[in-house]
Amino acid sequence: MLEVNQVSKIYEGKIAYKALNNINLSVEEGEFVGIMGPSGSGKTTLLNMIATIDEPTTGEILINGKNPHQLKKEELAKFRRRELGFVFQDFNLLHTLTVEENIVLPLTLDGKKVKEMKQKAQEIAGKLGITSIMNKRTYEISGGQAQRTAVARAMIHVPKLLLADEPTGNLDSKSSKDVMEMLETINKHERTTMLLVTHDPQAASYCNRVIFIRDGNFYSEIHRGDNRQAFFQRIIDTLSLLGGDGHDLSQIRV
Ligand SMILES: Nc1ncnc2c1ncn2[C@@H]1O[C@H](COP(=O)(O)OP(=O)(O)OP(=O)(O)O)[C@@H](O)[C@H]1O
Ligand SMILES: [Mg+2]
Repeated sequence: MLEVNQVSKIYEGKIAYKALNNINLSVEEGEFVGIMGPSGSGKTTLLNMIATIDEPTTGEILINGKNPHQLKKEELAKFRRRELGFVFQDFNLLHTLTVEENIVLPLTLDGKKVKEMKQKAQEIAGKLGITSIMNKRTYEISGGQAQRTAVARAMIHVPKLLLADEPTGNLDSKSSKDVMEMLETINKHERTTMLLVTHDPQAASYCNRVIFIRDGNFYSEIHRGDNRQAFFQRIIDTLSLLGGDGHDLSQIRV
C-alpha cells in the first residue's frame, strides 16, 4: 500500500544538507512498521514526505499506487484528510476546544452532519476509553488522555494509513503502554496500515517490523515473530550496534 522508491532529500540552505539518501521501503496493507535511528538520522524527514507535508528531492512515493505529490493543492488537502491520519509527540490538540470537538475536527472540515459526527465520536471514544472526558477542555486532561484523544482524532475518519511521530515521547511508561496497546488493537481490528517513528524500544516492540536508519541511509530491518519480549531485546541490540546519541539511551524504559 506504500512504496518509497529511491527517495533522497536535500534541504537547501546556505549549506545544502542531504538528510536522506536513496531510501527504499515497501509496506503491505495492514502492516505496522517502526522507524528507528539516532537523533538527526532522518526519521521525521521520511515521515513528513510520506505525509505529503514535504516533497522528496529525488525518487517517488506511492500510496495505494498513487503519487500524492502530483495532486493539485486542493486534491492533496482532501487526500491527506481522507486517507491519512497523524499523531504527533506534542498531541497537537486545540486548547480552546473540548476533547469531543477535537476528535470530530477532521469530520467538521469535511462538512459531515453534527449527529453523525457525535455518534462516530462516541464509538471511537468508547474503544479508546475516553468517554468520561469528552466534555473536558484539553488542559483539564492528562498526557495519556491527550494522546488517546489525538489517536481518536487521527482515526475518526478511518484512514488507510496512520503516521505517528514519537506518539509516546511525552508519556510515562504506563500511558505509553496504553497508547501502544491501543494502536496495536486498531491495527489488528481495522487493518489500518501504521508507521511509527520512535526512540523507545518498548513502543517499537509492538510493531511487526522495525527499520533502522543512520545518517539518512537505510541500516537494517528486523521482524517481530511471535515473541514481543524477544523482539524488544533484538531492538535494543540493534540500537547499540547502530550507535547514536545519549538522547536515545535516556529514552529506554524497561
Ligand atoms: N527544514 C530543514 N532544513 C534544513 N535541515 C533540516 C530541516 N529539517 C531537518 N533538517 C536536518 O535533517 C536531518 C534529519 O532531520 P530529522 O528531523 O529528519 O531527524 P530525526 O531522525 O527525526 O531526529 P530526531 O530523532 O531528533 O527527531 C538533521 O540533521 C536536521 O538537522
Ligand atoms: Mg524527528
